[in-house]
Amino acid sequence: ASTLGAQAAQSGRYFGTAVAAGKLGDGTYSTILDREFTMVTPENEMKWDTTERSRGSFNFAPADQIVSHATAHGQRVRGHTLVWHSQLPSWVSGITDANTLRTVMNNHITTVMNHFKGKVYAWDVVNEAFADGGSGQHRSSVFQNVLGDGFIEQAFRTARSADPSAKLCYNDYNIENWTDAKTQGVYRMVRDFRSRGVPIDCVGFQSHFGSSGPPSSFQTTLANFAALGVDVQITELDIAQASPTAYANAVKACRNVPHCTGITVWGIRDSDSWRSGENPLLFDGSGNKKAAYGSVLSAL
Ligand code: XIL
Repeated sequence: ASTLGAQAAQSGRYFGTAVAAGKLGDGTYSTILDREFTMVTPENEMKWDTTERSRGSFNFAPADQIVSHATAHGQRVRGHTLVWHSQLPSWVSGITDANTLRTVMNNHITTVMNHFKGKVYAWDVVNEAFADGGSGQHRSSVFQNVLGDGFIEQAFRTARSADPSAKLCYNDYNIENWTDAKTQGVYRMVRDFRSRGVPIDCVGFQSHFGSSGPPSSFQTTLANFAALGVDVQITELDIAQASPTAYANAVKACRNVPHCTGITVWGIRDSDSWRSGENPLLFDGSGNKKAAYGSVLSAL
């Protein structure tokens, strides 16, 4: 096939990108978006600091713009993200009472998921809850510090009741290398959730890579998680300098794992990237296909 989305579809997968609502009016941007991609993730528009800037006051307008664009163009939507320590308003991070925070977290999850019911295929229910480095434990955050270890389970249970037909994912970075303590910590959590019936359907591997691309164990990591009974996805792929080989390696790791159901790159043109100084994407600033585009298309 001649586009990323159509090529991925030949093996039953999607190919997605992060989208910024403010760029939908840019013709170069939206032409590439609608030609190449079959899934979209709002880059910032579904984060807490946009959706509930003050308690109980919800703003869905920017995310709605992306969701309507996606619907109009036959693209599905990944919801990103409900519970995350970053891009979190200070009225939430300042809560010190557990009952208050539990109510606030559950209300946020329920209200946001209800608004997008039927329009969001999968939610990153919890994002980046594990610490970097060798601990394999949860990172410090208001949720961890006030609610304790159980906050992740609580978030997933609330999400399942809010929208039983949405896929519920845990999403994180630096969990691509199998032997890393962080990877093992997330793996133990998913194994525990599956064994106790805590609702979790998928694990997202952000995959923000340096110039050499994924670690050689990436495919093993994807396969080991999938063996727990969850789908896996590459959710925020970008690679410093976008080496064609590095991109092909990332794509092949997913392609070789039957339950790796899709790949999302974190932006369209290099100039759209949060790492724009590293030119990590598949299209240059003018919207031309880079060498990595061709290698991804062939590897899909
Ligand atoms: C980034 C966005 O791309 C930026 O525009 C924003 O300023 C910060 O967040 N992990 C995630 C994404 O889960 O939400 C982050 O997106 C990149 C790292």
